[in-house]
Amino acid sequence: MIKKHLLPLMLLLLNTYFAQAQIVQEVCPGVFKITLGKPDTFTPERFREELPQVSALRQLPAGKLPFNLTDIKINFNPRGTIIELPLSGDEQLYGFGLQMGSFRQNRLRKVPVVNDYPSNDLGYSHAPVPYYVSNKGYAVLVNTAKYTTFYCGGNQPKQGGPASKNNSSDTTKLTVQDLYNSTATSAGNMLVDIPGVNGIEIFVFAGPDMLTAVQRYNLFSGGGAMPPLWALGIKYRVKADFKDTDVYKTTDYFRKKQLPISVIGLEPRWQTAAYPCSFAWNPDFFPYPAKFIAQLKSQGYQVNLWEHAFVSSSSPIYQALLPQSGNYLAFNGLVPDFASAKGRDIFAQYHQDKLVDIGISGFKLDECDNSDLRFGSARWSFPELSQFPSGIDGERMHQVFGLLYQKTIYNIYKKLNQRTLLDVRSSGALAAPYPAALYSDTYDHAQYVEQISNTGFSGLLWSPEVRESSSFKELARRSQTAILSAQTLYNSWYLQNPPWLQFDRDKNNKGILLPDAEQNEATIKKLLNFRMQLIPYLYEAFHKYQQDGYPVFRALVMDYPSDEHVFEVANEYMIGKSLLAAPIVGGADTRDVYLPSGNWYNFNTNEKYTGGKSYRVNFKLDDIPLFVKEGTILPLAAPIQFTDNKTVFHLTCSVYGKKVDNAYLFEDDGISFNYLNAKCNNIELTIDGAKVKMKRKGTYVQKRYVIDRTTIIP
Ligand code: GAL
Repeated sequence: MIKKHLLPLMLLLLNTYFAQAQIVQEVCPGVFKITLGKPDTFTPERFREELPQVSALRQLPAGKLPFNLTDIKINFNPRGTIIELPLSGDEQLYGFGLQMGSFRQNRLRKVPVVNDYPSNDLGYSHAPVPYYVSNKGYAVLVNTAKYTTFYCGGNQPKQGGPASKNNSSDTTKLTVQDLYNSTATSAGNMLVDIPGVNGIEIFVFAGPDMLTAVQRYNLFSGGGAMPPLWALGIKYRVKADFKDTDVYKTTDYFRKKQLPISVIGLEPRWQTAAYPCSFAWNPDFFPYPAKFIAQLKSQGYQVNLWEHAFVSSSSPIYQALLPQSGNYLAFNGLVPDFASAKGRDIFAQYHQDKLVDIGISGFKLDECDNSDLRFGSARWSFPELSQFPSGIDGERMHQVFGLLYQKTIYNIYKKLNQRTLLDVRSSGALAAPYPAALYSDTYDHAQYVEQISNTGFSGLLWSPEVRESSSFKELARRSQTAILSAQTLYNSWYLQNPPWLQFDRDKNNKGILLPDAEQNEATIKKLLNFRMQLIPYLYEAFHKYQQDGYPVFRALVMDYPSDEHVFEVANEYMIGKSLLAAPIVGGADTRDVYLPSGNWYNFNTNEKYTGGKSYRVNFKLDDIPLFVKEGTILPLAAPIQFTDNKTVFHLTCSVYGKKVDNAYLFEDDGISFNYLNAKCNNIELTIDGAKVKMKRKGTYVQKRYVIDRTTIIP
């Protein structure tokens, strides 16, 4: 799979303890693979979806590592495999996937294990990745699906030698805090503990800087996901017990009120059985599925279906999957062996024939993240000791289940040359090419914002969904975050009415709407319209993600790796090249924002700020909590309600500052993979006097952008 002629470097190192050959290969430009012993058969790399983007990797600046590869030590013992990787005292560590509860990972014990309810800072996650990235400009992936522990510095090895004479620390430290502080003071190396295996592969991604290392990881994964144009609009999931007629009422309402909703998601009850799933339409709720989908499409909506992978005995695919499933059930349903092509094919073919072929544009892949490991009573998923026909066990299957589920469903669309954006509750390593946004039930707004920053390190997309709230203010704040994330999602799966008409769940379901519902709707509509205005900018950013592995949403430290003020900033993040988002959480009207070096503009007021400092800023409920970097040409479209094959964006280009960089737009059909065969245009936006001009490169005939106006902001 990895081209052998790309191996200019081939080192054989002798492992000190066991005299085994540690093989180092440069498998792609700037990507080094270290192998020792007999690596596992079931790894994230083995299940990869795309080949590495070698030519894009070659375009990156030549990679440098801040340490010698020979300083990586791998040892086997009766417990398993232990890896020691060098760390310098002042480096900052990030990554491990969709992390909740921690951002900078220094000195933590991280256990990136899949769990349906992440909490604290341990590493349990919907999308665990055995991977970290350093601000010294490199990243490391341990290619394993075993439950693995990373000790991120802080463990001092025994030194030996004579005892120190001056060891009086025990008596001088008096407070409890002093005593505990003394336990993890020195940097120490990164220690990785992988029980039960005697062989491992490690991938090291070179910089020279942090952002390039992450780009290298994403490109090695196969490049970032490119969602269809419609998926950058807004998704609304309706109440689980809605029938077709209830859905029509909702969709008619949105169009009547000109609310820009692009995708309607159905929840469990569209099926005859949901826990476990039948994947068959419920005739009492949706008697004419094809007609239903066509009706929604005629109003400009795409339709997405909720499901999980566990198969009911009433499902048409049950018999076929019996021999292709694990030996224990989950939710009383079969667990398909997605690690085998046969298992995937049976599942996918049915989905294609019965659902995709009649117009379903995407799926929500739920419950693929194991039952909560923090509780003995959480038992719905399959046990770790399960065995599957492919040979994979339950532990490894849990770690890759979300990845393989995405692979199964994504390939239906790929074969049909149709792009999609899925919802998924679990993902993992090398997932950048999967067009899928993660979501969670945890619903902590502050964490939801931080997870936007966290996902950018690890090639993942995150959607901080909006459901009910304790006040309209909270709902608006959550909406502000949602419009500035990879997927804007209102998940009303237990709400009768849109939450902006009534944020309280009980009252909402009793039909008691807020007295100021109309005014609230206007506030939310303004926010949703901004999301639609941002689509051209986001689309270009996603194209750069696909092509160059450049993450669309990312922590400030990626762009400013040596600014110590941003080492712990997770509640602000970059979007594309030049926007900085700073959502407000909680009941306050103001927040502190640190702006890195350079000058910045408040998007709402055009007020200019000098970077390198913090400011107390105020955002109203219908403001956009956003700053624009000086030197930006920002193309914003006139709001539309949805996109289709005829969409033309009418742009207003705002020019921030006197000296600006050129900006770009990406133009194609918005729905197929034809852009990979040059059926697309790259548009350069340049300033010419007082006007922004477009220069198109490419042969795609349809023109999707027109510049209506230029605004200069001094
Ligand atoms: C949960 C999921 C929710 C909703 C619900 C329906 O697992 O996270 O968003 O879909 O299932 O049963």
